[in-house]
Amino acid sequence: MTAPLPEVLSGRYRIERLLGAGGMSTVYRARDLLHEQFADPQPCVALKILSDDLSHSPDASAVLFNEFALIRHLRHPNILRMYSFNADTAHQRVFIVMELLQGPTLDRLLCERPLGLAWQELREIALPLLDALAHSHASGILHGDIKPSNILLSEEGVRLFDFGLGQAEAGRLDGLAAISRQRMNAWTPGYAAPEILEGAAPTRAADVYAMGCLLYELASGKHPFNRLLSTQARDQRPALPLKKPRHLPAHVWRAVRNALSFDPAQRTVTVAQLRAALAARRTCWPWPE
Ligand SMILES: Nc1ncnc2c1ncn2[C@@H]1O[C@H](COP(=O)(O)OP(=O)(O)O)[C@@H](O)[C@H]1O
Ligand SMILES: [Mg+2]
Repeated sequence: MTAPLPEVLSGRYRIERLLGAGGMSTVYRARDLLHEQFADPQPCVALKILSDDLSHSPDASAVLFNEFALIRHLRHPNILRMYSFNADTAHQRVFIVMELLQGPTLDRLLCERPLGLAWQELREIALPLLDALAHSHASGILHGDIKPSNILLSEEGVRLFDFGLGQAEAGRLDGLAAISRQRMNAWTPGYAAPEILEGAAPTRAADVYAMGCLLYELASGKHPFNRLLSTQARDQRPALPLKKPRHLPAHVWRAVRNALSFDPAQRTVTVAQLRAALAARRTCWPWPE
């Protein structure tokens, strides 16, 4: 049995309130009592604690540490900052201490905007987000779970977070334990590329597919394939028509449509190229470098 969550973790972090819960963990707002003692004007942090049902899984703590280690490796203004990885042995809890974000996640924003965002607003969100993911890919780190609830629009700008299903590409960050994603069973099927659903290892191209879904949703307010699994959408006959969202310029649509290719061999656009397409006033095939 896991001990109940205490009011103060590790004698230092006073838990104030629940911020959110995802497939694998629960995130709380907390006050850092040590920093408060030294009159830190901003003593509040966020704590990410594994869900009770996962705390006995042999891989669970390693998954949380993996997330911490991956994000710590990335330094980018639009990627959530991690402070430390801790264990409260008395209460049998491991947790991440991280930057506290204030603002809506993109899934909440989309609920309020069922018709999607206007082009300028979409661009203001998508450019820093694509920058963050391009930086991650350039550092050899795959996110693995791009979706609206893993992106937050804070007062200081866009933040990409939740690298819980992330992993380093082969040959990068070699010391880090390889985590079995399947065992954690925490997929978000609507954003997973067909090859991932069919058991392939994550790739940059799979992140590109998820990003294509997200950009489509931001532009139109709707998931490109009515929330179907990508394998179902691919195999549906007659094939689902994919309409250009009204707010997307034609050159951006070409890049987004390529990102939404079911066949990974056809999905040739990179995150950096998607970003370049959004940044450009007008461009055409082939993609700008
Ligand atoms: N640093 C943070 N500051 C504020 N809210 C956060 C923070 N991290 C996560 N959240 C909230 O908690 C939810 C779950 O966090 P997430 O890291 O996505 O966990 P999971 O891996 O379980 O999906 C997010 O969708 C968001 O609403
Ligand atoms: Mg999440």
